[in-house]
Amino acid sequence: MRPAFAAALAKGVRTHMLSREEVALLLRAEGEEAAALLRAADRVRAGYLGEKVHLRAIIEFSNYCGNNCLYCGLRRDNRLLFRYRMSLDEILAAARQARTAGYRTIVLQAGEDPAYSAGELARLIRRMKDELDVAVTLSLGDRSRSDYRRLREAGADRYLLKHETADPVLFARLRPGTTLEKRLERLRWLQELGYQVGAGNMVGLPGQTIETLADDILLLQELRVEMAGIGPFIPHPDTPLAGAPAGSLEMTLKVLAVTRILLPYTFLPATTAVATLAPDGRQRALQAGANVVMPDLTPPPYRRHYALYPGRNRPVGEGTASFAWWVQEMARMGREVTADYGHIPRGSGSAHG
Ligand code: 5AD
Ligand code: SF4
Repeated sequence: MRPAFAAALAKGVRTHMLSREEVALLLRAEGEEAAALLRAADRVRAGYLGEKVHLRAIIEFSNYCGNNCLYCGLRRDNRLLFRYRMSLDEILAAARQARTAGYRTIVLQAGEDPAYSAGELARLIRRMKDELDVAVTLSLGDRSRSDYRRLREAGADRYLLKHETADPVLFARLRPGTTLEKRLERLRWLQELGYQVGAGNMVGLPGQTIETLADDILLLQELRVEMAGIGPFIPHPDTPLAGAPAGSLEMTLKVLAVTRILLPYTFLPATTAVATLAPDGRQRALQAGANVVMPDLTPPPYRRHYALYPGRNRPVGEGTASFAWWVQEMARMGREVTADYGHIPRGSGSAHG
């Protein structure tokens, strides 16, 4: 190991503070250095969060989207996608099933679909909270501040709104009609409203550099997010980025590892996108800092149509994953599935918070 690399890694583990240059140095790790980085992140995860793995059931209730993100299969201009919307009763039934199966957090995710009013969503959330006794996470993209407020008042606990990339020029190019600045403003609103907030980014976007990835991690730290979703970019054939190369598993794991080192308490999922890249992708992420898994509990007739990127709906060996299957799978890795809500202490985004 080069002395400068070893010094940056040791400083990160000790202080959870690094400069942009030091983060970039860690992200350039190869071979023995990369292995040391991932091991260090695994130790930080074990030290701050223990062996618990939190399972969150995801229900993708609509694949309509008004946005036209260049990377995403749900983009408005993708006419080849079969579109669906689940009714509020179907969503509630799917949530009930997840609760019965053992899940204590339900993630409601959809494209940016204005067909669901804030009032309807608020009623749904209130029923879920009253009848099912679950933590509710929302992942509904950009909405108005008053919508966010109503959903929070209805009982929603957490909100995931990935920043996607910390490069404002790249952001505006990949997400036409939107800006990073507005996205960050929304993240602040969500925090003010008392949500536990998640951001996160893709790794390997065309036009992204190591420095951009360093900025992604430092932005997560600056925002003090309670959660961060980090996954590889995977090109979708029916999008303008069809011909671009996918992000690598190795770089994704390194970004995850540095994020864990700088945000020791933040909840980091082993994302489905990681699992899509390689059969052991999920496991490797859980051994490089991740402590959350989000199994897909969208009812089967709809599931395959939530095609953000190819292969998403059939990560290897997880086709019919039940709660019990996950408990076993995690035990095999020496990890323990928890049955609590998995609430994240406020301000946990920083070791100094
Ligand atoms: N590759 C990887 N992740 C993608 N997402 C959308 N399209 C892709 C893709 N092609 C992710 C984005 C977004 C979430 C809905 O899915 O990060 O936040
Ligand atoms: Fe819509 Fe989100 Fe896909 Fe963009 S990334 S097109 S906002 S679902």
